[in-house]
Amino acid sequence: MVVGVLLRLGYRVLGYMDAVRRGTILGIGCLGTDEDLPAILEAHPACAAVLGLGKVNTSAARLELQRRVSALGFSFPPIVAPAALVNQEVTLGAGTVVLDGAVVNCSASCGDGCIINSNATVEHDCVLGMNVHVAPGAVLNGGVLVGDHCMIGAGAVVVQYRSIAAGTLIAAGATVIRDIDELGIYAGCPARRIA
Ligand SMILES: CC(C)(COP(=O)(O)OP(=O)(O)OC[C@H]1O[C@@H](n2cnc3c(N)ncnc32)[C@H](O)[C@@H]1OP(=O)(O)O)[C@@H](O)C(=O)NCCC(=O)NCCS
Repeated sequence: MVVGVLLRLGYRVLGYMDAVRRGTILGIGCLGTDEDLPAILEAHPACAAVLGLGKVNTSAARLELQRRVSALGFSFPPIVAPAALVNQEVTLGAGTVVLDGAVVNCSASCGDGCIINSNATVEHDCVLGMNVHVAPGAVLNGGVLVGDHCMIGAGAVVVQYRSIAAGTLIAAGATVIRDIDELGIYAGCPARRIA
């Protein structure tokens, strides 16, 4: 999905990296595996990187990959899709992507490597750590704090000024009305720990 966003933003996309060659994606070919990255940077010193990997759990792997590729010298600019709205005084960390229909409202901040997915809402003054995925249609109301590596499932709602501990998974459709301090998976309305 991120390839389509990059193309619509007018980026020249050199190609994608993968462990196996999967043919073309939206007309973009495979450049090789991660082992080929240093040679690519040497040939195209101004090129930047974007993670195309999704995230459906609370694993840190996606951020670790970003860190490894950064260490080679690649930059990870934040990417904001043309139909997303990022309001004033928002901070977006390296490699964070905001997809179409998403809103990140005034004074919110998202750390490195976050995904603010299609039609998700990150309201004013929210503070997201690193590698947080706010899945499609999820709503973080004003002033919500979300720790590193959290996954906020599709259509979930977190009421204003609640905090969610690092590594928490909020199930699709859950409604979080209390602070979450204990690591786990939370589902339902109101959200309760299920695992
Ligand atoms: C919560 C979640 C991680 C659980 O997945 P899982 O570990 O495979 O769990 P299961 O499907 O085996 O379900 C376990 C139990 O949780 C319940 N459950 C699962 N998802 C639920 C949800 N979203 N809301 C309420 N209950 C849920 C199941 O009914 C089941 O209950 P039971 O044991 O009484 O039958 C998953 O259902 C979910 O919501 N993931 C987020 C998906 C998402 O937003 N993806 C976005 C991709 S871009």
